[in-house]
Amino acid sequence: MKVDSQTPEIKLVRQASELIRRGGLVSFPTETVYGLGADALNPSAVRALYHAKDRPFDNPPILHIGDPQDIHNLTAYVPFKARKLVKRYWPGPLTLIFKRSKIVPDITVAGLDTVAIRMPKHAVALALIRESNRTIAAPSANLAGRPSPTSAEHVLSDLDGRIDAVLDSGSTAIGVESTVLDVTVNPPQILRPGGITYEALKKAIRRVDIHSEATATSPLQIEEARSPGQRHKHYAPNADLIVVEGDVKSMVTRIKDLTQRLSRKGKRVGVLATDETIGLYEADTVKSLGSRRDLASTARNLFALLRQFDSEAIEIIVAEGLPSTGLGLAVMNRLRKASGYRIVKA
Ligand code: TXA
Ligand code: MG
Repeated sequence: MKVDSQTPEIKLVRQASELIRRGGLVSFPTETVYGLGADALNPSAVRALYHAKDRPFDNPPILHIGDPQDIHNLTAYVPFKARKLVKRYWPGPLTLIFKRSKIVPDITVAGLDTVAIRMPKHAVALALIRESNRTIAAPSANLAGRPSPTSAEHVLSDLDGRIDAVLDSGSTAIGVESTVLDVTVNPPQILRPGGITYEALKKAIRRVDIHSEATATSPLQIEEARSPGQRHKHYAPNADLIVVEGDVKSMVTRIKDLTQRLSRKGKRVGVLATDETIGLYEADTVKSLGSRRDLASTARNLFALLRQFDSEAIEIIVAEGLPSTGLGLAVMNRLRKASGYRIVKA
């Protein structure tokens, strides 16, 4: 259903809300990526949600609310710092981990004693939540392991036939998922970097840790993984992906060398470059992630480009690393994971 992103048509929102209330699955846009929504307090709807994505049952979704007050019903305790962050960043791309209350079904939190909650900043998402009068559990609307969807076309290419509807209001604004911040520990800890940057959080609450899994350059031992999703294969295109990291000059030299060697072996090679370097490579396709001077642009393009390489039947993607500042931290986290940690130091 095509809906207006600013003032969604109420008739369509009502139809979608009715589906949610009956235990159905509706994909909807948020400011980060498209989510796949189900009634969070209805165990059979949530079970269907995991099934539709082929998602492992040990990886719980984020609960989406339409009013900050709704946290009180869903949580056992709201720390002072969390209140501050809620005031400052909701609605917005910040997910907070709280101790959960008894009303949240086990399946919705994968048996954990905590719950992930956020209030999205998107008129369509908020209209759906409010009109259905439900808390909506919504992981990203991709098949487990695939790049997250930033358009309704991406949602349908993974989930057509597995879900009841998608509300389509075009491409999402931020392009990477929300920041997941655990506020049950002191200092609060970033489990997944995302739309609200580390720098911004530091300004707001002074002390913030980044869990090692957020910046990992090799697969984590299971015991180290605090955010359940980090244990699984993630964001991966069909093509193999290699990330080359280092200063720009050595990176370019290394990538040129790599692409040449792979092409000589007969591989269809794609390069994921930046605006500043795109002219320097020769390969079957060369695409720019955006500008090194505007890392938000790279976040916006990342997942769509990974899917595009697949549609061009590229076999190996060689990607440039980016600075881990601002939104670059989230982009590098996704790229490294998508590569299965095939990282080359230039
Ligand atoms: O921007 C977003 O956050 C998008 C949009 C749709 O809102 N949603 C999203 O959901 O990215 P999902 O399910 O793809 O990612 C949720 C992440 C996973 O890494 C999951 O393991 C983690 O949040 N998570 C959920 N509940 C948790 C909990 N209780 N403790 C720690 N991590 C949790
Ligand atoms: Mg996801």
